[in-house]
Amino acid sequence: MSFSATCFVNTFPKNVSYSREQRFQKLVKNCPASRAPTRRRAPRRTCLVAKVARHRIAVLPGDGIGPEIMNVTLEVLRTAGRRFDVEWEFLEAPIGGAAIDAAGDPLPVETLSLCRRAEAVLLACVGGPNWDNLSSKQRPEAGLLRLRKELEAFANLRPVRTFSQLLDASPLKSELVAGVDLIIVRELTGDVYFGEPRGIEFIPEGNGEREAFNTMLYRESEIDRVAKVAFELAMTRPRRKLCSVDKANVLETSMLWRSRVSTMAASYPDVEFSSMYVDNAAMQLVRYPKQFDVVLTGNMFGDILSDEASMISGSLGMLPSASLGDGTFPAIYEPIHGSAPDIAGQNKANPMACILSATLMLRYSLNRPDMADAIELAITNVLDQGYRTADIMSAGKRLCNCSEIGDKILEALQESAVSRVA
Ligand code: IPM
Ligand code: MG
Repeated sequence: MSFSATCFVNTFPKNVSYSREQRFQKLVKNCPASRAPTRRRAPRRTCLVAKVARHRIAVLPGDGIGPEIMNVTLEVLRTAGRRFDVEWEFLEAPIGGAAIDAAGDPLPVETLSLCRRAEAVLLACVGGPNWDNLSSKQRPEAGLLRLRKELEAFANLRPVRTFSQLLDASPLKSELVAGVDLIIVRELTGDVYFGEPRGIEFIPEGNGEREAFNTMLYRESEIDRVAKVAFELAMTRPRRKLCSVDKANVLETSMLWRSRVSTMAASYPDVEFSSMYVDNAAMQLVRYPKQFDVVLTGNMFGDILSDEASMISGSLGMLPSASLGDGTFPAIYEPIHGSAPDIAGQNKANPMACILSATLMLRYSLNRPDMADAIELAITNVLDQGYRTADIMSAGKRLCNCSEIGDKILEALQESAVSRVA
């Protein structure tokens, strides 16, 4: 089943006007990635008790700060579940370093099959110094990359928004970052991350010197399917702009990328399309980030640019992501940050990127924008009240650890429910 053929066709009939939120919900609802795989409909019967929805989620806490931020995220989902009559079935499994320690494999078959049985996968982060000396195929990161590949999660959506309360937390000037609302669409299952051959070998000439090599590789079909997601996404956004980022002045993969994406642009006359070299894009992101709306790019460039872009919102700890496929397999929701081994186990981490990833799951996979809105509002309220984790701390604010900020978010979630009823 091809994403392009099934996902966004006739999503928005021309004679009907939709609000931004409606377009967004319709987009993700029509996207096969948002459909629950083979869930049987409950038999109709007369019942006086309100119907409770039930969702089965694969939960992969991973390494470092992963278990801490995942605990808080699950508590937030449980609380939201009680408020909105949703029951959760959380199926937890190890990935990354935790899985290497438990099963000798960064992605054990049990973990993968559990993910395949779920409606969505919620993942925290992987990696750490304990496993740094392993070969590239055995490292914790290899487990994450295999998971993305196995679930064919080729489109990684990384929204970058500024929170008005966190303008001080960004190292960039407030007037530059205020109002930024861009989204990076990063191709996730191709490029130099997966290209073969790769390796480190002794050079044939002898003398014990080694050389290392990787292969940057893109097929037309891989470029087309992720470009389609980006164009369709651009159509749902008020500014309808798309900037494709590559290095077409040097790399063949980028030359092919640019020609395919430019060709597709012709089918989207309503989208204001441009291409930009990646070095320039890195500079433009800090010079004038508000010029960007949807940024489409390959796996490697997207990895680098999204870390850079996180500084616009103040911290890596605020950026969520959604990794979507064509709907055959469940989507993966993961914060963009790593496992932060330096603060792991100290209850200091910011859980908000993980919680915001869960809100993307509610929107994209579970079709519950109402729950996502409520959780996002709770986070906004907590920031309004001046509570901050260390990574977004600024003068005059109240420093919280991971579980404290989690408790504040839970309280805000309960309070907003009470004030709606009152
Ligand atoms: C990310 C991370 C991963 C990546 C690592 C942990 C393999 O940096 O999701 O951005 O490079 O994709
Ligand atoms: Mg990264």
